[in-house]
Amino acid sequence: MGGEAAAGRWARRQEGRGIPPEILARAPASPWLHDPSYFVAPEVPVDTPSRRAALELLGAGGTVLDVGAGGGVASLALAGAVTHLTAIDQQADMLEVLAVGAAARGIPVRTVHGRWPDAAPDAGTADVVVSHHVLHNVVDLPPFLRALATAARRGVVVEMLAEHPMAWLDPLWVRFHDLHRPPPATTDDAVAVLPELGVDPRVLRWERASPPKQDPAWVTARLCLPPDREPAVTEALAALPRRPRHAATLVWEPRAPPRTP
Ligand SMILES: C[S@@+](CC[C@H](N)C(=O)[O-])C[C@H]1O[C@@H](n2cnc3c(N)ncnc32)[C@H](O)[C@@H]1O
Repeated sequence: MGGEAAAGRWARRQEGRGIPPEILARAPASPWLHDPSYFVAPEVPVDTPSRRAALELLGAGGTVLDVGAGGGVASLALAGAVTHLTAIDQQADMLEVLAVGAAARGIPVRTVHGRWPDAAPDAGTADVVVSHHVLHNVVDLPPFLRALATAARRGVVVEMLAEHPMAWLDPLWVRFHDLHRPPPATTDDAVAVLPELGVDPRVLRWERASPPKQDPAWVTARLCLPPDREPAVTEALAALPRRPRHAATLVWEPRAPPRTP
């Protein structure tokens, strides 16, 4: 599939994840906001293909830009190799958590509160750009990916789940709202967009060791339901298959500039 078609397919699939306004209007809390306590970086980093790829690019050391940094799981795992970290996120409370983690590890950090790619000029460039679990939040993928590539001197490491991280809840949208969703965007859909940008990534597919959280209170809020529906959600969750853990790491290096004669 050509890049243009791939970007359109990604956008359509992402738009299919939207919540109809009448359901959103009844939601007691925003189903979109991420809780920073879920995104605190572990003291001992998990050894993943993404971490190994970023460490390889950093070599003896270098600067890192973490896009959609959250609490810093991706970049704080690189402590020891990061000489300076710039972390950008659209949620200020995430950046507060990250700053505490960076200080504890002795990593010099600058946080940028803003939305990628609009805030890319404020974030500047770095040797290595990492962006973990953000693509599934993005509808218009080409400008997002292009800005990652432009910001990286040595390489980009993107981590994502094999399909939209909330797709496993689709049966519960049917049960509680009679909402039937189209198929979710996948890693293959994202990879198909990259040739349009002149990027040929390495794609490493793997499985996360620990399943992502599926706390019933959190799922209840995600489904735009009031807290008193939590027992029903708990029961419905128990009937779902295990939450998928398939992940992928996409790595690419900037193209060498054309040689001048
Ligand atoms: C699922 S969390 C992942 C956080 C972290 N990268 C990790 O792997 O734990 C997604 C984060 O991306 C942020 N985010 C989503 N879209 C963004 C955008 N366009 N620009 C900046 N931050 C964004 C959210 O606020 C959230 O903190």
